Amino acid sequence: MYTTFSGLDFILSLVLFPAWLAAALAARRPASRACARTLRRSIRIATVVIAVAAALTAARLVTFTQLASLGWVFTDRKIWTALLLLLPGAIATLVWTLPALRTAVRQHSADRPAVVTTEQRAALAGPRCALGPQLAAFGSLGGFFEKFLPPHLSPWLNLAVYGGVLAVAGLLLAGRTRTRAARISGAAPAPVLSRGRRSAVRLGIPLVAVAVVAGLITTAARSSEFPATFSMMQGEADHGGGTATGSHEHHASGHDGSAAHAGPADAVSVADLRGPRKGAPDRRFTLTAQETKVKLASGRTVDAWAFNGQVPGPELRMKQGELVEIELVNRLDDAPVTVHWHGVDVPNGEDGVAGATQDAVRPGTSYTYRFRVGDTGSRWYHSHQQASEQVVRGLFGPLVIEPAGQRRTVDRDVTVVAHDWQTTQGSRPSFGTSDVLERRRIDAGDTVRLRLTNTGNETKTFTLTGVPFRVTALDGTDVNEPGELRNRRLVMGGATRLDVEFTMPDGPVRLVDTRAPDAGIAFSPDGRGTVRPKLDGAEFDRTAYGKPARTPFGPDSAFDRSFDLVFDDWLGFYKGAFGLRQTVNGEVFPHTPMLMVKQGDLVRTRFVNRGEEDHPMHLHGHHMLVLSRNGKAVTGSPVWQDTVLVRPGEEWEVAFRADNPGIWMDHCHNFVHTSLGMVLHLSYEGVTTPYVIGGHAGNRPE
Ligand code: C2O
Ligand code: CU
Repeated sequence: MYTTFSGLDFILSLVLFPAWLAAALAARRPASRACARTLRRSIRIATVVIAVAAALTAARLVTFTQLASLGWVFTDRKIWTALLLLLPGAIATLVWTLPALRTAVRQHSADRPAVVTTEQRAALAGPRCALGPQLAAFGSLGGFFEKFLPPHLSPWLNLAVYGGVLAVAGLLLAGRTRTRAARISGAAPAPVLSRGRRSAVRLGIPLVAVAVVAGLITTAARSSEFPATFSMMQGEADHGGGTATGSHEHHASGHDGSAAHAGPADAVSVADLRGPRKGAPDRRFTLTAQETKVKLASGRTVDAWAFNGQVPGPELRMKQGELVEIELVNRLDDAPVTVHWHGVDVPNGEDGVAGATQDAVRPGTSYTYRFRVGDTGSRWYHSHQQASEQVVRGLFGPLVIEPAGQRRTVDRDVTVVAHDWQTTQGSRPSFGTSDVLERRRIDAGDTVRLRLTNTGNETKTFTLTGVPFRVTALDGTDVNEPGELRNRRLVMGGATRLDVEFTMPDGPVRLVDTRAPDAGIAFSPDGRGTVRPKLDGAEFDRTAYGKPARTPFGPDSAFDRSFDLVFDDWLGFYKGAFGLRQTVNGEVFPHTPMLMVKQGDLVRTRFVNRGEEDHPMHLHGHHMLVLSRNGKAVTGSPVWQDTVLVRPGEEWEVAFRADNPGIWMDHCHNFVHTSLGMVLHLSYEGVTTPYVIGGHAGNRPE
């Protein structure tokens, strides 16, 4: 419902200006009609055009109230452009213009004199009749600028600015209409511009306007380009004045507002926040990045970039508490790479973000990561250098942290990696490399765990047909007392994981990505059977599943910091190119806010999606506890996520403890959006980074 109304509202915001402009021009005509017959026709036309514009305005009021019913945040910019700028003109039109036109028609109906007096014409030209539609046309221009408006301005400031602009426009337009009326009645002389000068003015004004617009566009394009080198800490510091302290203002940075200067004298560098450098590792892996041609099961080929020659990369299994050492070797021709351990809360210096926690690893060189693994569960790893290209092409793989000891919980532990491969024949939703139906044998009675992992950019929906199942983990964290489900649609944002468990029945079980219902995996005891997938079940709701359990903090905790992150998408320039930009609080990286915290802080973050696309928001180095969705608190098992899918019209509130110092990327995990600006950072006070975006290493995390 949100997408429908916001789409409709957007279209209306754009068509209102031409509609009211037409109304303003049509309402101007009658004043220049000296003959009653043509006057009546002009008035008829004007009335119809005004009625259309008024109907569109009424429609916009409907979309506006529908959006407002979801929360004021979805309308707070529109209040000014849709209500304050637009409505006064529209109301004036209904209250003054239309009655004035009706009176004029009555005065010149068929049995009255055929000639219109200059007084009557002057009245039609005057403000009472002409001002309304003109003011509405001016006000509806606001629709074009709506999404450029900065959020978080105080309502009083907005009221002053918009009210002021409208008042000035109203006075100027009223002056113009009054002058025209005076000229028609003969009270004021006609303008005394020579023909030549008049055409010079007529030509000059548009020319100057075009030049100004062209200049503005060029400046916008230029200033949106990335400099060759910059620190990603230059975003404006947001100290998230929390409810605990209560007195801080948003953006109260105190000095010049740049987070880059936040480090005191005893600053810590991320380069020193590494895992244990010494000691024999319990487990050692090597990941070699190289080019590989991959054939999907359908025969389509992918020019992949892969770890160890396979896609997905090798599954890295480790046990809780182990010291792990992973060597990254780059054998690509000319692309530098990194590895980020998605959902593993490693020390900041091991996080693998080019330009934030390390320099990208050049071809022909290697880099060693070392860290001790904490929580158990399904995670994954991927390059965090030019991720929008490298992850899409295959530089990723699953990572599973098993409980310490030998405890085996299921008979079959299967990792299922869902990815969209870009083949020469288009995008193919696949499980691993199988993009057609794959059959697998599992003995009846075996307990099975499927570790579903969405490594694609897009949100995916899965169904499991033929068996009741439980969702036992979300983003690798166990669900408390998960109940049995049947035929549920499992919606997963990019980068998220979801573990599903069931006992293999005698008949077949089928897992599909609903965008490719003819493919998927069919499990059966004989390895041959299959079942037609059910696609239409209710959607699995993670906020009301399982049983509540104790959490270290919750909705009623006193938070040290609170951050509001509002997402929009809008056309504009980014990195020198014109297109859709994915904004956070109206800004794109590196101008997005830098969320500042102190070690030990309890932090609350609110995500609001006012755009038209899904945003799986991933915070590095921390796990977020979901507090509420759309204002409704979680009623089932606690929901811990490293990536929270925020869909259009949704509002999620999450909380986390700032217990892992560093500079942590916080971004939309649809890497297309990442590369269109939806990136920010969580920064601990006193932590600095020596790494830069660009520079000699060519760091490009997104
Ligand atoms: Cu999966 Cu910033 O990462
Ligand atoms: Cu996104």
